[in-house]
This record gives sequence, structure tokens and C-alpha cells, in this order.
Amino acid sequence: MSGDIVAVWEVALSDGVYRIEFEHGTTTGKRVIYINGKEVFRKDWMFKLVGKEPFSVGSTEVKAAISIEAVTGLSYEYTLEVNGKSLQTFRDNRSRTTKTWLMKLDGVDTRVVLEKDTMDVWCNGQKMETMGEFADDGTETHFTVGDHDCCIKAISSGKKRKGIVHVLLVDGTRASAQAE
Ligand SMILES: *[C@@H]1O[C@H](CO)[C@@H](O)[C@H](O)[C@H]1NC(C)=O
Repeated sequence: MSGDIVAVWEVALSDGVYRIEFEHGTTTGKRVIYINGKEVFRKDWMFKLVGKEPFSVGSTEVKAAISIEAVTGLSYEYTLEVNGKSLQTFRDNRSRTTKTWLMKLDGVDTRVVLEKDTMDVWCNGQKMETMGEFADDGTETHFTVGDHDCCIKAISSGKKRKGIVHVLLVDGTRASAQAE
């Protein structure tokens, strides 16, 4: 990769965490976008030095765009939009609408993501087949990872402000949640 990388962002999606790198040549107008080190977009020459470059991220093709703005003199500012929102707004919304657990299972780094509005579950980039059940204290969403029985319990916290709490059990043991 060249030394023209001007900005790097990390975007956590349900199917994985993506590292986005942007290369901008401020004399040639060159624009290159890398996702997890793989080139996904390249223009070697461009008269226009500012503007917006749309692209998509991940297996669900989430819409993103890099904005190039001129600030003072010959310096530029680069911002990433995801789903038409600033990265921060996108992250804030995701932290409300999803929950993520990270763990090692059979020696493998495992990332489980729950989309709370649909109760869809993702594990290491794969959307899981789940089975929902009602229990005494809430609902249970069952799925398996390898030989492991996994269950996400949705339990009322009893507190209005916290609402429903989601807990992941792997073979009956509680996994720890992760802020991304
Ligand atoms: C917030 O997340 C939900 C669930 O993924 C999505 O449907 C909604 O469009 C998002 N809202 C914003 C403002 O990004």
C-alpha cells in the first residue's frame, strides 16, 4: 500500500468489523478505497479534488460514502458516512439496536451479534438459523455454533430505563458482552 493513505476508519457491522482505508492523491486526484486491505475502488486521475465517493461494505452491502472537503489552503478533510449518516450517528444507533459478544470457542475468536429489532443473530459473518421460544422470564433464541448450544435470553430488567436485557448463554455459561 502506498503512503497516500489519508484516512482510516473501523466500521462494525453485523457480519464483521471492517477496516476502511482511503488513499487520496492531492495532485492527481487519485482515489483508492481498501476494505480490510483489499482494493475495492480505484481512480488514478481526477480533476475534481473534492466530492463524495460512494461504495458498499460487507456481505449485506451496507451503503457508505467518503466525503472529501477542502478546508484551509491545500488541506482536505475526509469523513465517512454509513447508511447516509455520520459514522458516529451510525455507531450510536447500532449500540442501541444491536448487542455484540466476543469469545473464544474451540480456540477460535467468535463474534456473535444480535439485531434486537428483528432478533436476527450473526456469528462470524454468517446469519444463523435460530429457533425462538417463550420462557417464564422472557424469550429465548436458540442456535448452535459448532457443537455448542447457544441461547440468547431476552429478560425484562424490571427497570423502565434499561428495558429488556439480552444475555447470551453458551453451553449454559454466560458470555460477556462487548461494546464496539
Ligand atoms: C437504526 O438502526 C435500525 C436497525 O438496524 C435501522 O432500521 C434504522 O434505520 C437505523 N436508524 C438510523 C438513524 O441509522
